Amino acid sequence: MSRASFSNSSSSDGNADPEADVSAEQTRRELLLGALAATACLGCSAPVRAGEDPPGSDERPQKGDLLVFSEGDSEGKLIKAADLKLGGPPVHAWPQDPKTLVVRSGSRLNEILMIRLDPASLDEQTRARAVDGILAYSAICAHAGCPVTAWVKSDVGDTEVFKCMCHNSEYDPRAGAQVVFGPAPRRLAALPLALADGALSVAGGFIGRVGGAQPG
Ligand code: FES
Repeated sequence: MSRASFSNSSSSDGNADPEADVSAEQTRRELLLGALAATACLGCSAPVRAGEDPPGSDERPQKGDLLVFSEGDSEGKLIKAADLKLGGPPVHAWPQDPKTLVVRSGSRLNEILMIRLDPASLDEQTRARAVDGILAYSAICAHAGCPVTAWVKSDVGDTEVFKCMCHNSEYDPRAGAQVVFGPAPRRLAALPLALADGALSVAGGFIGRVGGAQPG
């Protein structure tokens, strides 16, 4: 019997059509595969995929943010006032969202220098912003945006200063991080701090522009 005649006779006697059965089976299989794919794709809509920065990590420091070490053995740990030695060296820090605990390390422009200095050594404006002699500044050089990494004796004075080793710009943290040497066109941005029971937090956004004035 030919396939055509088998098909014709089946349809005429009212029995199930094998081709229809195959088609229905395929449809069921397709639906099942679709459902499985949809289930598997639930992970696709998760807020953070592996390897991606979590939301908020590239936002600038905000009021209430905590501060954590950005390098060294204590990287990621909370910075307390007691962690800052009088007279330096500075501690490198990231702000951290206190609710989500997301560290705002998604932008290099968020790195901060924190230092504790003798309040008597600060100029009036800087002293007014300091908490127990502790100050915070952007760690990004205002010249061409290199990280400011050194705490060394100034080329033009007897005190230690922040120094960017790219083109030797120096900043005095006692005077609002104004430029005392080198090509940087402006001071480092300052970050207001708050201190409560030994715990440090950010009291407001950066004061001044963050980042380099020209490409490196
Ligand atoms: S980038 Fe810092 S001195 Fe040039």
